Amino acid sequence: MKILKTAEELARFVESTDFNHPVGFVPTMGALHEGHITLLKKAKEQNKTAGVSIFVNPLQFNNASDFTNYPIDTDNDIRLLQEAGADFLFIPQKENLLHHFTPPVYDLAKLNDVMEGPFRPGHFQGVAGIVHLLFSLVKPDRAYFGEKDFQQLAVIRHMTKTLNLPVEIVGCPTVREANGLAMSSRNRRLSDEQKEKAGAISRFICSLREVFPENTPTEIIRQEVFRQLEQRGFVPDYFELCNPDTLEPSSLFSSALSLQACIAYHAGEVRLIDNCAYTSV
Ligand code: PAJ
Repeated sequence: MKILKTAEELARFVESTDFNHPVGFVPTMGALHEGHITLLKKAKEQNKTAGVSIFVNPLQFNNASDFTNYPIDTDNDIRLLQEAGADFLFIPQKENLLHHFTPPVYDLAKLNDVMEGPFRPGHFQGVAGIVHLLFSLVKPDRAYFGEKDFQQLAVIRHMTKTLNLPVEIVGCPTVREANGLAMSSRNRRLSDEQKEKAGAISRFICSLREVFPENTPTEIIRQEVFRQLEQRGFVPDYFELCNPDTLEPSSLFSSALSLQACIAYHAGEVRLIDNCAYTSV
């Protein structure tokens, strides 16, 4: 695996004969887990060259302590990537990557007005900026993103489409722990008890069909989800049922609509998000 520590080293690799197209690319912020590795495996299956970036992007953190406390585990990350057969790892320092970069303002349409948008001002502008910059340096043919960050995936699809970027965006299913909890780098900061309770919340938002009758108002479901969160000592940010493409919220849990159940809450210091698909029947 080639380890590239600067944009200049990356540029040389991208121009070399080792960089065979099609190229699959997985942007990450490190502290890698099975979710990230699944994206890499898909990239390897579908391309001749497959690699990862690790960069804890300061542009997307709207909370200073979340940035400072973001887990870093580079030696283990490199080991996991080598085992999974990555061809390259781009792991730049902040000064090298962002020194000359003034992020543009992106048109995120209404995708930024819902769910994470109001709770994390500037977050998706920061995500769009870094992903755009990474695409321009790595020049991948395909890029792989997890459905775990459902709104992020919608924002990146939108940015890629509106800027006509020559990259195919591939969405990949959420990888979960045995108890249902979506894998996340932030889970390292949870106690075993919090992990167990958070698993119960994930199982609940993935079993709404079994619990609520057809056309239950979203507000009723939200009240029950919030009750379950509070009962476990968690603090809710939002629960929405939304259109999976436009992210427009639906006021009814109707089986005639494809809906994504999306949740964000705080488990102590740690903010967790998750979502689950309900396809129309
Ligand atoms: P990060 O949280 O490291 O996630 C990197 C990629 O892994 C994202 O596409 C995310 O959706 C995916 N991922 C995380 N957990 C997953 C899981 N349990 N199952 C499947 N995929 C999962 O998302 C980011 O970094 C950043 O915002 C980034 C896109 C790198 C821009 O800085």
